[in-house]
Amino acid sequence: MEGWHAVAASDEVEEDDVVCVQACGRTLAVFHLEDGGYHVTDDCCTHQEASLSEGYLQGDTIECPRHQGVFHVPTGKPMGPPVVDTLHVYPTKVEDGHVWVRIP
Ligand code: FES
Repeated sequence: MEGWHAVAASDEVEEDDVVCVQACGRTLAVFHLEDGGYHVTDDCCTHQEASLSEGYLQGDTIECPRHQGVFHVPTGKPMGPPVVDTLHVYPTKVEDGHVWVRIP
């Protein structure tokens, strides 16, 4: 399962929005930020079990819907308590109308 995988049609993810997808046994969050960039991270918050794609996207940060921890989407860096662990960010590209993710 290693390698690049198309996880969504790029026009399925509206600008300033995030969707949850399943790929290679993982649950991922596909972000389309207001600057036009696409990013893919694990969907599960690093604090406890919560789906970040159900959170609040503001600019390039996502606020967890459960305890309002905040992550920087492009880097996965935690930006606000209670989150302390970095969110996994996957190498991402847009090609042939799809968002592709490299699964390690
Ligand atoms: Fe995300 Fe607690 S589960 S901040």
